[in-house]
Amino acid sequence: MGEIAKLHFRGKVYDLPVYTGIENESAVDISRLRSDAGLITLDPGYANTGSCKSSVCFIDGEKGILRYRGYDIAELAEKSNFIEVAWLLLKGELPTREERESWSWQIQHHTMIHEDIKRVYQGLPKDAHPMAVCSSVVGALSSFYQDALEPRDEDLVWLSAKRLLAKFPTIAAYSYKFSIGQPFMYPMNNLAYAENFLQMMFGTPCEPYIVHPTAAKALDLLLLLHAEHEQNCSTSTVRLVGSSMSNLFSSISAGISALWGRLHGGANQAVIEMLEQIAAEDGSAKKFVERAKTKEVRLMGFGHRVYKNFDPRAKILKKACEDLIAARGMTSLGEEARLLEIALELEEIALRDDYFIGRKLYPNVDFYSGIIYKALGIPVNMFTVLFAMGRLPGWIAHWMEMHQDTDFKIGRPRQIYTGPSLRKYVPMEKR
Ligand code: CMC
Repeated sequence: MGEIAKLHFRGKVYDLPVYTGIENESAVDISRLRSDAGLITLDPGYANTGSCKSSVCFIDGEKGILRYRGYDIAELAEKSNFIEVAWLLLKGELPTREERESWSWQIQHHTMIHEDIKRVYQGLPKDAHPMAVCSSVVGALSSFYQDALEPRDEDLVWLSAKRLLAKFPTIAAYSYKFSIGQPFMYPMNNLAYAENFLQMMFGTPCEPYIVHPTAAKALDLLLLLHAEHEQNCSTSTVRLVGSSMSNLFSSISAGISALWGRLHGGANQAVIEMLEQIAAEDGSAKKFVERAKTKEVRLMGFGHRVYKNFDPRAKILKKACEDLIAARGMTSLGEEARLLEIALELEEIALRDDYFIGRKLYPNVDFYSGIIYKALGIPVNMFTVLFAMGRLPGWIAHWMEMHQDTDFKIGRPRQIYTGPSLRKYVPMEKR
């Protein structure tokens, strides 16, 4: 018999089993609360609600720990790459040499999209945000790949997962090419994941485009760091949509929409816009921090629902930014160098300020990622698309895990009603 929490309510005592995870995090199991005690829980933003048990990722926000399937993020960042990490997240174990070769080959050979999908782009406004375009096109995949939609057929789900991972860079790069009126570049299956994306983004049919290995490496690192983050807003969205037995493509399309918002993945774009705004005004980081303290603005890239000490991804990216500057020299970075200076100043001021210390607000992954994207020449409105590209394996791993869960149920929270009580319909002449 495990631990029991007791709830005293209206003269009765209810036993609530306590479930303890392998890292000693504990949860009160309230699944019988309504049927036994007539109570539901109220938890705005689900800040204290565990929606599932999961073995994909572990985060300890107080200690700044992030592990994918038990492997520390810093070690993965140093020794692995995005495609290997994708396998790890989906399968639960690192691939053997043969598995890794076969997996990379398969992802490199599912990159083309159906030619008719180009017509989906044609139907959208050229100035649409690429996140809107990508969520539409990924949603449209369920109409082009109808052969593999059944959520309970593991082989078909695996095929859809491969298609998504392999085709997303093509879809993303096309969204950019479409917005600037350049011809779409076909994927090159001899190139690795990040390289191929950069080739499709920046190449043209007029001349060969050689991807700089440092750029491909930096992008691969960014993708790896974004690959998974347990029950965040977009992952929870993917699970919730999938829980109705919706297919993988439509669930991921919904996840992309959830990620777009500036409090979530959209923060990476918002950080650069904030830094540019500060640079265009008077360059004063101090003034901006003061405005954040009066809540006139938010210091974008700061704060996290889970990390209350530091975000380990931000630590790795800060170092990557510094390495980039060391490799290229501050002056050759141009505008990004100025933005990085402001970012460092903002960080320094905020980390010493009682407002931020008291609220445990630290730089998050988005604080530095934008500076690196910018240095790679990625347009600002593509930043969140790259977050989505990175997060794909995590979303898919959760979607698959949910379908294999013996506790599987359609996601359907309750509410406390605060509207009017029963009242009579008022005829038009009496309103
Ligand atoms: N700047 C200024 N004040 C802040 C900030 C910020 N960035 N973040 C939180 N606060 C304040 C907030 O006003 C509140 O103050 P008070 O207690 O006086 O009312 C307190 O800190 C707690 O904030 P909260 O909004 O209740 O915290 P939350 O856990 O609901 O929100 C967050 C987390 C990430 C949405 C929030 O910190 C935020 O808006 N940050 C800026 C946006 C951002 O960088 N988002 C990326 C998150 S990391 C990547 C991802 O998950 O996608």
